Amino acid sequence: MKTLRTILTLIPLACGGGGSPSGPDELLSDELSMPREPTVALDGFASAEQCGLCHEAHYLEWSTSGHAYAMIDPVFRAFVAVRQEHYGGKQDMFCLQCHSPIGTRGGDIVPGFDFADLQPITLEGVTCESCHKVASLARPYNSGHVLDPDGPMRGTIAEPIISAAHESQFSPLHGAASFCAGCHDLREVSGLVLERPYGEWQGSPAAAAGVQCQGCHMPSYEGPAVVGGPTRRLHRHTWIGAGIPLLEGFLTAEEKASLRAEVKRLLASAARVDITADTSVRAGDVVDLFVAVTNNIAAHNFPTGSTFNRQAWVEVVVRDSDGRIVFATGTLDAGGEPSGSSLAAPGAPELLRLGSILVDERGEPVLFPWRAAEHVSNALGPLRERVFRLRVPTGRAARGPLSAEARILFRAFSPTALRALGLDEYAAGLEIHEVSRDRIRVELRPP
Ligand code: HEC
Ligand code: HEC
Ligand code: HEC
Ligand code: HEC
Ligand code: HEC
Repeated sequence: MKTLRTILTLIPLACGGGGSPSGPDELLSDELSMPREPTVALDGFASAEQCGLCHEAHYLEWSTSGHAYAMIDPVFRAFVAVRQEHYGGKQDMFCLQCHSPIGTRGGDIVPGFDFADLQPITLEGVTCESCHKVASLARPYNSGHVLDPDGPMRGTIAEPIISAAHESQFSPLHGAASFCAGCHDLREVSGLVLERPYGEWQGSPAAAAGVQCQGCHMPSYEGPAVVGGPTRRLHRHTWIGAGIPLLEGFLTAEEKASLRAEVKRLLASAARVDITADTSVRAGDVVDLFVAVTNNIAAHNFPTGSTFNRQAWVEVVVRDSDGRIVFATGTLDAGGEPSGSSLAAPGAPELLRLGSILVDERGEPVLFPWRAAEHVSNALGPLRERVFRLRVPTGRAARGPLSAEARILFRAFSPTALRALGLDEYAAGLEIHEVSRDRIRVELRPP
């Protein structure tokens, strides 16, 4: 195990930040989650649809979730296609090890694989048995789960009733945050940490209070775990996050509308903005605006997860008494990106970015994580507050009162990034969610 882990971390250095490895020995592998030879049989796993015959509610919820979407997601597929080309197939298991642990360990994901040739169970992505056939956790990142296809179905019902379909077993691991960590904490081959909601959770106020990921992302309700069974404390299998599937047809219009409402509700609970200023200023002075941003989540950063793909920022717009904009940051530019100071707009107010960016050795932003040397994050820690000070110049002729409005905005992807991936058709469908908003009036005394 130790030698294989060493290989995992040494290969990227040998590749020198992105060159194509050559020769069969350089196939990127790992005994647990990216084995050279299959360690499980694909036909040892059942389709979610079969589970749905008895576990109706769980099946219906799962089918609308990101977990069911993990392998058909066009954004995922577009990234994988670029990586396949870049490494000539040698690293093809890397991106698939969490999006389809069964397909990757079962020999369906091979160097140079084509999504069109994959087995149905692989395309089910994070399907029922990729979680319920987990026996233990070898590491809290990079698909660290130990799968046991011949074992019982594990869950958190302490005394499950006997079923002819499968054996059941109580598993405390399934009720713990570390269970999610196996896939939600992600390190690139280079060792660069890309996603770490679990790392953020450890040491958070939520962890101290014993609140696990499931407590927020799998809220409980009463109902039968199986058609006709006794009433249990069930856990929602919708896993609401910040994403809304872009692929047409994955959700019905009704499902999409209800997911959108849930995502908006979750995001509205995530963070808050408060804006303050000197209450009385003379026209011609510089007004100091203080924009305080607070992460309301006790469990992890805002934003969290794939923050380098996500966009979270603060938009601030100041208008004079005629409604004319006298100052703005974070409004959309012609390309649909939040504006702020850049080479294109020198001297403009800085963009108040809350997400993260990946940069190469020269400090230039990069889209593909495997080309990144550094991950620079502005995300707010659990329950943390940050105050931005903005200096807004006013003219001597300016007429008050000024109105200043601040909004925290969130978007799942940058339209520029989607266009760079050849996904123009989805760029138009991206939605900007308002997380929080605050507004003040600033009186202006004559100069
Ligand atoms: C450690 C497990 C793991 C590995 C390995 C992994 N992912 Fe993911 N991926 C996830 C998780 C978990 C999410 C959801 C995170 C979130 O929404 O914040 C995700 C989300 C994504 C998304 C966003 C999906 C959407 O529509 O919102 C893309 C794109 C993606 N991954 C691409 C990749 C690529 C490319 C690779 C290989 C470089 C990769 N992933 C490797 C676990 C993994
Ligand atoms: C023929 C009906 C049937 C089918 C098909 C079925 N199950 Fe079950 N399952 C049950 C019954 C009955 C229970 C016990 C429910 C209870 O005690 O309330 C159960 C319990 C469970 C539990 C809870 C275990 C625990 O101790 O917490 C999980 C998880 C589970 N099933 C997953 C699955 C998955 C995944 C599939 C598909 C591969 C599946 N089941 C297929 C009938 C079925
Ligand atoms: C106290 C409630 C709470 C707990 C506990 C919690 N989360 Fe979250 N989570 C949220 C909220 C609110 C959001 C939406 C804001 C955001 O995206 O940061 C969110 C968003 C997410 C997202 C989507 C991020 C994105 O932009 O795609 C992922 C993935 C996630 N959480 C994973 C986890 C994991 C893993 C754990 C456990 C280690 C966890 N969460 C624990 C409240 C919680
Ligand atoms: C991403 C992992 C994951 C996937 C995929 C998943 N489950 Fe679960 N499931 C869990 C966890 C975790 C729990 C226990 C949550 C807790 O106790 O906090 C659970 C609980 C259950 C239970 C026990 C009753 C309950 O609601 O607590 C059943 C039955 C079940 N799942 C069936 C299914 C079926 C059927 C599918 C596929 C249609 C499925 N699960 C997909 C993680 C998963
Ligand atoms: C076997 C790997 C795996 C496990 C285990 C797993 N996840 Fe995920 N999860 C993923 C992947 C991959 C995605 C992203 C799918 C996509 O959109 O492409 C995801 C997406 C999500 C999202 C949606 C994020 C968004 O942007 O909307 C949430 C929320 C989430 N998972 C929560 C959890 C929680 C909570 C647990 C633990 C109970 C868990 N997951 C366990 C792999 C996993």
